[in-house]
Amino acid sequence: MEQTFIILKPSAIRRSLVGDVLTRLQRKGLFITGIKMMQLDDTILREHYAHLVDRPFFPSLLRSMEATPVIVAVLKGKDAVAVVRTLVGATNSRLAAPGTIRGDFGMSGQENIIHASDSPENALVEINRFFRPEEIFDYPMITAEAIYCPDEMN
Ligand code: PPS
Repeated sequence: MEQTFIILKPSAIRRSLVGDVLTRLQRKGLFITGIKMMQLDDTILREHYAHLVDRPFFPSLLRSMEATPVIVAVLKGKDAVAVVRTLVGATNSRLAAPGTIRGDFGMSGQENIIHASDSPENALVEINRFFRPEEIFDYPMITAEAIYCPDEMN
């Protein structure tokens, strides 16, 4: 099974949407294997958003991501990276499809509720950036037999 990484951004914390967002991800059939609250700073954000440091909106993105603590989590499931990206929707929440997290909860490209890894390779990098190995748990997914058929469970 694949693992992916998400950040519930300050927009989710401030608007008390943490439960709504996590409920959607869990109801889909994704398992939480790691979760914690943390305050992000310039150092970790410059690494996480290294591809955006030269964009004009970067200072504003830093302020936004440091406005409150965030919740970071690791989710496990078949094709978890692609599944979560589909549930999250387009970066600009105003353009995100109804039914997606951003489409239902947001109006902004910056205050867009949630970050989700965009590839399995980046998911691994991001999980290791935000979590120590002992903070990721491997436990029996006892409902998996109701979620998947046998050949989908590897
Ligand atoms: S790109 O270049 O827009 O395609 O970059 P992308 O990898 O999609 O990441 C964009 C992230 O920057 C945040 N952000 C903004 N994006 C676009 N426009 C504006 N003005 C802006 N301000 C901030 C956006 O929320 C994306 O964050 P993540 O966490 O990656 O979803």
